[in-house]
Amino acid sequence: MSPHLLLIAVAAQMCAGQPGPPDPPGRIAVIGAGIGGSAVTYFLHQQFGPQVQIDVYEADRVGGRLATLTVNSQQYECGSPTIHSLHLHMQDFVKLLGLKHRKDVVGKSAIFNGEQLVLEETDWYLLNLFRLWWHYGISFLRLQMWVEEVMEKFMRIYKYQAHEYAFSTIEGLLRSLGGDHFVNMTQKSVGESLQGIGVSQRFIDDVISAVMKASYGQSVAIPAFVGAMSLAGAQGNMWSVEGGNKLICSGLLKLTKANVIHARVTAVSLHNTEKKRLYEVQYEQEGTLGSDYYDLVIVAAPLHKSGYPISFLNLPQSVPDPMGSYHRVVSSIVHGYLNSSYFGFVDPKLFPFSSILSMDTPDAIFHSLESLCPVNVSVGFRRKPPQEAAVWRVLSQRPLDRKELKTLFKSYYSVQVIEWQAFPSYSTAVSSKPLPPIILHDGLYYLSGVEWAASSVEMSAVAAKNLALLAFNRWFELNEKIDQQDLMHKLKTEL
Ligand SMILES: Cc1cc2nc3c(=O)[nH]c(=O)nc-3n(C[C@H](O)[C@H](O)[C@H](O)COP(=O)(O)OP(=O)(O)OC[C@H]3O[C@@H](n4cnc5c(N)ncnc54)[C@H](O)[C@@H]3O)c2cc1C
Ligand SMILES: *[C@@H]1O[C@H](CO)[C@@H](O)[C@H](O)[C@H]1NC(C)=O
Ligand SMILES: *[C@@H]1O[C@H](CO)[C@@H](O)[C@H](O)[C@H]1NC(C)=O
Ligand SMILES: *[C@@H]1O[C@H](CO)[C@@H](O)[C@H](O)[C@H]1NC(C)=O
Repeated sequence: MSPHLLLIAVAAQMCAGQPGPPDPPGRIAVIGAGIGGSAVTYFLHQQFGPQVQIDVYEADRVGGRLATLTVNSQQYECGSPTIHSLHLHMQDFVKLLGLKHRKDVVGKSAIFNGEQLVLEETDWYLLNLFRLWWHYGISFLRLQMWVEEVMEKFMRIYKYQAHEYAFSTIEGLLRSLGGDHFVNMTQKSVGESLQGIGVSQRFIDDVISAVMKASYGQSVAIPAFVGAMSLAGAQGNMWSVEGGNKLICSGLLKLTKANVIHARVTAVSLHNTEKKRLYEVQYEQEGTLGSDYYDLVIVAAPLHKSGYPISFLNLPQSVPDPMGSYHRVVSSIVHGYLNSSYFGFVDPKLFPFSSILSMDTPDAIFHSLESLCPVNVSVGFRRKPPQEAAVWRVLSQRPLDRKELKTLFKSYYSVQVIEWQAFPSYSTAVSSKPLPPIILHDGLYYLSGVEWAASSVEMSAVAAKNLALLAFNRWFELNEKIDQQDLMHKLKTEL
């Protein structure tokens, strides 16, 4: 598709009597090798072609927040565990890389209020519906319709991107999908929005708040847009990658033959010469300093205070301050025996749940507790019966102390703890603050700001594709493919 667009660009410029199109960029740097950085590397490679050299800087490990831990020589997801079936870029990557969906191992969920389970998932879907209906009446249906509408509009992005349309701001992208309403949804809280459509306070307190805690470690004060995205996930149809979700990142980088540099980027500075505008990337690698020059630089790591800081030098305007801090979520991977008594099941054999969400109460000691399956699941695999030792992932605000561990588990063999700067602290976003910019300077782009609209694996992939298209369209001055209004209508009449 790109050669076709190039031809248009050439034709346009010939008509205008100008010299031919600019040469493609020589070298591109991507900072960060999480899903955002890996996906943008792949999409840039697709747009600009294989002759462009892409260097990917990674300070820590390829995969970023897609990561696994080993317990008893089996690996388990300890970062982002699941992907929604409507997340089409992730689905494409799996196909492209010849990876497999990990077999779904069924399990039931319940919501815990600190004393007892208030909502239990049953075997039969219809029965579930009745139970919810009994408890919460019309709220449940209103919620479903709301989430479906948001998802349906969100899915328009795949069509726009297939036609190579790009947006220069996150607001512009959201507006093209769902009008001003979508932009407003990044500023108004999910609790308030659901109240606005007639969802009962009780449903919000019991169910919605538990899902927000489990998904983002935060309350129903988080913005409606990110809230809707996580509620879509809570409705099921989730999958993960056989062998670990992080295989997508390493796979994409390998496929594009990107040059992965294990180094921490410390600064990006602008160098304008008569002929050329370049960016110098300075980095630290095993205690030694290095630097290199690029035509384009993509920052695919969140710029927040507790991350690896990057200074931006010599830019005409300063890079806006990061919007705020990131929210800490502690992931404890515990191999042991669950204390089912704590959840009201004295006989552990009768405990039927594989995941427990906690209601948002002040003394809740965990956000969620989930029995994990290894990333490689063989055909005959079944979940461990509840009375046997299993591997559990507990998400919490703080590291669990001994007493808390002894409350949740009768006994355990091992505990491994990872502290994540997991997601934006959204409380600061519920205001009229603008979302972070995508373009920091002509050839300097920022991918991770999209997390302030919604933080998820697929949002990073959507932002990556948008960014690659934007960089390409701007490089070749294909302005008719940038920030177009009313794309829904345009694409209907084009087809
Ligand atoms: C516990 C947990 C559960 C989650 N659950 C889900 C879920 O169920 N579904 C879902 O969709 N999402 C979930 N997420 C969110 C999801 O993991 C992230 O949205 C996504 O992985 C972000 O990818 P990214 O590439 O944008 O950022 P990251 O994965 O953070 O990648 C950024 C990379 O940049 C590197 N880096 C940073 N600074 C520098 C520097 N100066 N120089 C060089 N390298 C640098 C970092 O080391 C990192 O590897 C979860 C996250 C966590 C932590
Ligand atoms: C979005 O918010 C603005 C400002 O609060 C308001 O004027 C506008 O009517 C809202 N638009 C939609 C579609 O919700
Ligand atoms: C796990 O799955 C991946 C992807 O299918 C495969 O490459 C890897 O060899 C598997 N590992 C084990 C231990 O079976
Ligand atoms: C398990 O939970 C029960 C009920 O909350 C509690 O009394 C007990 O101390 C917990 N721990 C163990 C090891 O049983």
